[in-house]
Amino acid sequence: MLPADDQRRLRLAVAAWRVLRENWREGMRSSDGVRYAFTCPATPRYRHQWYWDSCFHAIAWRHFEPARARAELRTLLRAGRLDGFIPHTAFWDRPAYWRRAPFYGTHTVFGAAATATIQTPLLALAWELVALASPDEPGFAGEALPQLRLHYEWLAAARDVDDDGLLTTILPDESGLDDSPKYDPVFGLMRHDRAGYFWLIERYRRLGYDATAIAERYDEHVEDVVVNVFYVLALRALARLDSDRGLIYAARADRTETALLERCYDERRGLFFDLAGRAERRIAVSTWSALAPLALTALPESIRRRIVEEQLLDRRRYAARYGIPSVSFEEPSFNPGFSMWRCWRGPAWMNTAWLLVPAMHALGYTGPAERVIASLETAVGRAGYREYYNPRTGRGLAARGFAFSTLLVDLLARCGHPPHQPSGPQRMMAP
Ligand code: GLC
Repeated sequence: MLPADDQRRLRLAVAAWRVLRENWREGMRSSDGVRYAFTCPATPRYRHQWYWDSCFHAIAWRHFEPARARAELRTLLRAGRLDGFIPHTAFWDRPAYWRRAPFYGTHTVFGAAATATIQTPLLALAWELVALASPDEPGFAGEALPQLRLHYEWLAAARDVDDDGLLTTILPDESGLDDSPKYDPVFGLMRHDRAGYFWLIERYRRLGYDATAIAERYDEHVEDVVVNVFYVLALRALARLDSDRGLIYAARADRTETALLERCYDERRGLFFDLAGRAERRIAVSTWSALAPLALTALPESIRRRIVEEQLLDRRRYAARYGIPSVSFEEPSFNPGFSMWRCWRGPAWMNTAWLLVPAMHALGYTGPAERVIASLETAVGRAGYREYYNPRTGRGLAARGFAFSTLLVDLLARCGHPPHQPSGPQRMMAP
């Protein structure tokens, strides 16, 4: 018999696998015959392929069926353009529902195959993690280098609009943190959870979502910390995957990291803040994005320790009973519960813990890191894989069977608790 802890973990892993399988979609796009295979985040609300969700799904899939992880990432590449752009959302065979269609960053409101906007670009990182789990297909690591290079070249050329090493996002949902209160002072009435969002999209649609043109004319755009942290992690992964051009990508990662440190770091508060608009105004709102540089191991250790000790271990800020809240308890906007249109204003999400907890672990804060993991296991054990959780009560909220919450399995593995026995009678069985 497995010890009780391992049995519980095995159950959580099998449940994760089941969610991923149930959300799996594959077929051929009827308009052009292009094949797709991906995990939709959750039905009925999220039926399409989202960029960062797909990366997270692949990272979870690699523990169960690496072939599906590879198929999901290849599909994401196929959703992109020849110039290296990869969309925030690809609709494949399910056009956006008419009521939601105007809120996607597409060139035309109806009939678009994908958005013309981006999402936090972690593809190369996911690619490397999946490649590490692909001994059955060693060619996977190198097969997409030309496309991955193009993608990161496109990002540098089209989105580093002032050439300072930091990517610019033009819509709040490009980070994936749609309604985060850090965007309130930037987008005002045009923020994601207000009717004015419709106007923001319309205005940028007219400019073809050209970030350079937008940044010249308007102030509603951001050099976003969480986006740039994942950008650095992806560039480092690409540097490791690409033996020919590795030095170039490593240098680019260094440059972005230095820019984060020099331009976004608020020494007094020990937090990293976004820069908004043409004046690059620092937006001093404490959300988990301000802690994300904890995952950048090249940053000074003293800064990373401050993030852990002054934020993640402080009960007035981010030390919660369940998971890590998306906004500091201290912020007036903090709201841990469910709302149809507001989801990044307090609830705890799995990708937040996935990024921050292994970094805490690596710095030696093993006890607190294990407590966050255990609290998420409890929440998932009670409520299943939900979109997010109330950090005070652990209650599961919003979508059920939410696929990127299965990152819990990868989080456990990265902190020394792999999801299954590689062999023997207790092997995990496909759900
Ligand atoms: C919501 C989330 C975003 C996610 C998308 C699909 O919009 O805020 O992060 O990518 O749903 O799951």
